[in-house]
Amino acid sequence: MNLVVVSNRLSRGNANEPMTGGLAAALLPIVEKSGAIWVGSSGRVRDGAQKEPFAEIEALGTGALAMLDLPAAHYGGYYEGFANSALWPALHSRADLIRVSQGDYLSYREVNAFMARALLRFRKPDTVFWIQDYHFLALGAELRDLGVTQPVGFFLHTPWPAREVIAGVPHHRELAEAMLAYDLIGFQTEDDYENFAGYLSSTLGLVVADGVVTSPHGKTRIAVFPIGIDAEKFARQAARAISHPDVSRLRRSLNGEKLAIGVDRLDYSKGLVNRIKAFDQMWTAQPSLARTVSLLQIATPSRGAIEAYGNLQSELAKLVSDVNGRHGEVDWTPIRYLNKGFSQTVLAGLYRTAQVGVVTPLHDGMNLVAKEYVAAQNPADPGVLVLSKFAGAANELDTALLVNPHDIDSMARTIAMALSMPLLERRMRWEAMMIKLRHHSIQHWFASFVDVLELARAERSVVVQDVVEPPTWWPLRSANG
Ligand code: F6P
Repeated sequence: MNLVVVSNRLSRGNANEPMTGGLAAALLPIVEKSGAIWVGSSGRVRDGAQKEPFAEIEALGTGALAMLDLPAAHYGGYYEGFANSALWPALHSRADLIRVSQGDYLSYREVNAFMARALLRFRKPDTVFWIQDYHFLALGAELRDLGVTQPVGFFLHTPWPAREVIAGVPHHRELAEAMLAYDLIGFQTEDDYENFAGYLSSTLGLVVADGVVTSPHGKTRIAVFPIGIDAEKFARQAARAISHPDVSRLRRSLNGEKLAIGVDRLDYSKGLVNRIKAFDQMWTAQPSLARTVSLLQIATPSRGAIEAYGNLQSELAKLVSDVNGRHGEVDWTPIRYLNKGFSQTVLAGLYRTAQVGVVTPLHDGMNLVAKEYVAAQNPADPGVLVLSKFAGAANELDTALLVNPHDIDSMARTIAMALSMPLLERRMRWEAMMIKLRHHSIQHWFASFVDVLELARAERSVVVQDVVEPPTWWPLRSANG
């Protein structure tokens, strides 16, 4: 088998470079070891005069990275436009933030079609294509239009929301239709699976039986594959990183005070405003906690050209300064707020230094920071994870302190409780989480998706004559609705 993995963002595999997002960090170690070709955006654009998609190729472990320059005329409409101003808010149940235009949608489709053409040069008879995330919902359909008959699978790293929310994206039907060109569609959680299956039956009138939906494209299997991490490797990295200069400086600066840590992209789905308010509330309700615990909040700037992100950045900066102004002392800053990225190595050491990890998104596909925080802990004296019940990770990490990120008072009380939790309880909770992390590793995620994809393709070719009649709306390439 010849595996071609596709995602918008790539990672070049330097553990000392700032890490840019969960997906890239998760895929890196498995691409390095599996010999796959990993294709994605180079981060550069080119004008439309190019005849062939240009790819710069470099080795990555036993595999390779292929970095494509995307078309300049469509990049903004694709990335800042349709992917991150229409799909991202919808997928995270923020229909109020959906901003959509027909131009952006056409750019999104153009970039999906461009990527499909670029992938043809990597196709061999035994190639398996595995497409990642909401940037490429329509890529499978584009590949099929180009005559690709090899297995093509798709994994969604974000949630799939309720039917009424995704319907806020005017092109939802044609996108869902395009998705059914995939042989296998993977989700992070049962809820995402149920929402998608419910959408297919209630909105598209298709029958989903035993995880298989039959459409004019043939049969598509849908299934749940919660993404994991390499917990043992991350633990070793964290133990080593404790002596990294950045980590040592942090420890020295604490003067014996406890530390809570949050590490997020600066995104409205991450619940950062509510988290800062919860710390404010905790120090207000329990003034004795002042000087005994501070928060290190890393909020890496993201998608800054989009208005909602610019607004959030301003709101957070103001809120943090207000909280620090009210609770701070001449020699004590309650919140250390950093707008920059850190390498995996440094992050591992920072997680191990913190007695509490706060991961409180309003809605998140999985959230690998939660898993990394747990894996980084010292087994003899582990910290406590405070985790939103609306992060996909809460399904597995159910011995974390689970919180409702909308309930600020309760979050404040829970963080205080985490700070005073006895060692025995901390160890019991942590050990239970480590068992799950070891069991649901990234290697397991990767291998099980690829196995099921090959089976799904085999099932599909057996029944290819057995396709259903197209419903009247099929295919809807240009209509909105
Ligand atoms: O949540 C899905 C995801 O792909 C993450 O893995 C990643 O952090 C983010 O979205 C992508 O963000 P960006 O726009 O910075 O590539």
